[in-house]
Amino acid sequence: MEYILSPSLLSCNFASAGNDIIEVWQAGAKYIHLDVMDGLFVPNISFGQPVIKSLRKCCDIIFDVHLMIREPERYIADFVKAGADIITIHLESTEKVAETIAMIKEAGLKAGLSIKPKTPVSALEPYINDVDMVLIMSVEPGFGGQSFIEGSCEKIAEVKQMVTARGLSTDIEVDGGIGTGNLADVLKAGANVIVAGSSIFNGKATESVKAFDEIAKQI
Ligand code: DX5
Ligand code: ZN
Repeated sequence: MEYILSPSLLSCNFASAGNDIIEVWQAGAKYIHLDVMDGLFVPNISFGQPVIKSLRKCCDIIFDVHLMIREPERYIADFVKAGADIITIHLESTEKVAETIAMIKEAGLKAGLSIKPKTPVSALEPYINDVDMVLIMSVEPGFGGQSFIEGSCEKIAEVKQMVTARGLSTDIEVDGGIGTGNLADVLKAGANVIVAGSSIFNGKATESVKAFDEIAKQI
């Protein structure tokens, strides 16, 4: 089965982040997932646009930026300038969801919309025609290395149904607690963009990317 792997940099060794990106890119990953956290929308702080701007120079991999920040509309222009290719915002993070999606698309980028585990898929309905990607969180956002929340595959399947019923080709990304043990389940449920942090960077990244690809090939 065709899929896109988006290794999450959150679990890399930040002292050599550029090299870690190059490694997964050379191993075949098409995206690198960049988790931006502000300590307000989520109880953790990660990195922001200056870091992304520096990393942009390392290779041509697609920068898949996941904004876990309050009122992301304040910073869209900055992340565009830093070199993002896809910007995903959270439905729960702003009153201006439609406006922020429009800002991302007007800048020529792909726009993603994410929901936290407790937010129902139906909340996506008003925006589904306008986004390029839906991101289903399969852990509470904020930290890498958590366990996949049961029931997330049902949510993926629900999004898949919503998208298919409308004749859309929206990407469905899933993020949190994914490894070789449950990759097949999320792909079969309908996800086509897979985020994986600890299961890629906590071991040998190249081998992990290949192991993911091997599983997807067999579906
Ligand atoms: C969590 C982040 C994830 C995280 C995933 O809030 O959005 O991208 O890095 O890490 P793993 O794959 O270890 O669950
Ligand atoms: Zn993420």
